[in-house]
Amino acid sequence: MNPNDLLLLAGLILGGVHFGVPLVYYAYLKRTWLPRTWDIKKDPGYTPRISIIIPTYLAARHISKRLDNIAGQNYPLGRLEVIVVDSASPDGTANIVERWIKTHPEFKVKLIVETKRSGKFEAVARALRHISKDSDIIVLTDDDCLWDSNALMRIASYFSDSSVAAATGSIRYLGDDGVHNAYRDLYNQIRIAESKWWSTPVHNGPLLALRKEVIEKIGLPTLPGADDSAFASYTAFAGYRAIQADDAWVYEYPARDQHKRMIRRATHLVIYFTNLKKYAKKNGVYVKSPFDKIWNIEAYLHTINPLILLIAGVILSLLAVWGNSITLILLGLATVLLVYKPYRAWMTSQLYLLIGLIRAFTVKQETWPRPKLLQR
Ligand code: GDD
Ligand code: MN
Repeated sequence: MNPNDLLLLAGLILGGVHFGVPLVYYAYLKRTWLPRTWDIKKDPGYTPRISIIIPTYLAARHISKRLDNIAGQNYPLGRLEVIVVDSASPDGTANIVERWIKTHPEFKVKLIVETKRSGKFEAVARALRHISKDSDIIVLTDDDCLWDSNALMRIASYFSDSSVAAATGSIRYLGDDGVHNAYRDLYNQIRIAESKWWSTPVHNGPLLALRKEVIEKIGLPTLPGADDSAFASYTAFAGYRAIQADDAWVYEYPARDQHKRMIRRATHLVIYFTNLKKYAKKNGVYVKSPFDKIWNIEAYLHTINPLILLIAGVILSLLAVWGNSITLILLGLATVLLVYKPYRAWMTSQLYLLIGLIRAFTVKQETWPRPKLLQR
């Protein structure tokens, strides 16, 4: 074999691994786990006391609608409280919330105003100190999403099973051009299948419910970039179930700068996948469970697998530049395939992760510019 053929072989093997591993994993999840019924006892009439935390920064445009949406939930309102933590937003968010509270005296909403902006995590940590003692479930949400009117009731039903410590909603994008929802559909299926198997490591900001008792016992991970997924998986490392519900729907608008937003989320995920397991072990929280397998695969898919694509891409591009016709055809095919939505969504997500990998080691992500939403 001449060196070029060896390089070609290496490029093809790496490409095969990059696409093969997730495809095999996806096929396995879809065949084996997705069709199963939940092995979780869901009591649809279970109505624990819930504290909903909404961190806000520059939320004047969304917050009234957000509070209306929560007040419109099919859930006994007497068993809900809402805590809004605003980081001194200069757009009058706090005033709007105060007015909303005055016009809805039947609804328990607390407003906490910080003196300066130190990020979502800080705000959530502060809110936790203000939740009622008798509350059972902590729900984290964003100011700019919406819940289906049954979302809270359905999420709550999973907590009637004492093995569940975290449950997140399934996301749909409103007013979408296609590629974001193609990406969402695929990931919703994967997360739900992983949840039926045992637990999923990726959870969603628009709706994440956590069992308070467990959080009080094990604490919240405070590593940099820790977010919704880190909170949920920390409970999974402690041996509990952390699942995505297939019947609790939440809605989000894609952002005008959706790419930037996806890069930030990818950066958070990279930091999270490279640190949380070590962190859980160091803190004595970790116990062995089926979550390990799922975690290892997803950690690989979020960190090493995109690098393998990059290396394969570099090798094949070099060969193409050197005039190797097979690689030229292959790269042409790979480009033409971009018209196929799921493939395009996949390639875009790999790009986000690669940028996230670089950013994870260079930038801190505690605060970020609020995305402008494509609200129609
Ligand atoms: N109090 C406070 N202080 N809240 C903040 C701050 C802050 O400094 N920064 C952001 N938030 C709030 C926002 O007001 C919003 O309610 C929520 O955190 C999510 O922030 P967005 O700016 O809307 O980001 P996103 O739409 O991309 O959100 C997703 O990604 C984030 C991680 O990058 C969601 O999944 C978030 O939950 C997630 O934290
Ligand atoms: Mn948002």
